[in-house]
Amino acid sequence: MPDNTPAPQVSPDNPCPFLRALVANGYVDGHIVPLGKLTEDIGLAGGKTGMSLIGAKALTYGIAMIANGHPLRSVTSGAVLDELRNGPLDKHGAGSRILDAEAHVHPEQIDRFARFGQPNGERSSLRLAMS
Ligand code: HEM
Repeated sequence: MPDNTPAPQVSPDNPCPFLRALVANGYVDGHIVPLGKLTEDIGLAGGKTGMSLIGAKALTYGIAMIANGHPLRSVTSGAVLDELRNGPLDKHGAGSRILDAEAHVHPEQIDRFARFGQPNGERSSLRLAMS
């Protein structure tokens, strides 16, 4: 029986592709998420264990704490994922250019990234130029 439940709508004011995927797949709420829950879920998604998991969680906690610009509020009530736009980390889509400031995906930018790769074992022209 197909699951016809509509996927949760993700706010255009959430500019992080990773967090958007977590919201769209129902792992976290699109609005307020307690920092403990967010770091736990991101840790699980990363597949790390032991000390590297603890390190990843500490980093995630730090990012989530400052991302809305109100660290104390984020610690006490959680990160507000649909209010990350215009926060201290938002570069307005100037990063990878995959997701623009209106939350539209630009697949041609993914093709652009593919140009930087090379088949396993081949040396890049940059490396060759430097050797
Ligand atoms: C392992 C976890 C995470 C991954 C892999 C990840 C990945 C990314 C990537 C690839 C971008 C750049 C998108 C682009 O330039 O097109 C981005 C942007 C962003 N992320 Fe995340 N993210 C993570 C966790 C978080 C957390 C915990 C927060 C805050 C609660 C956050 C907030 C943001 C914001 C505000 C931007 C926009 C920054 C900009 O304008 O370039 N991210 N993220």
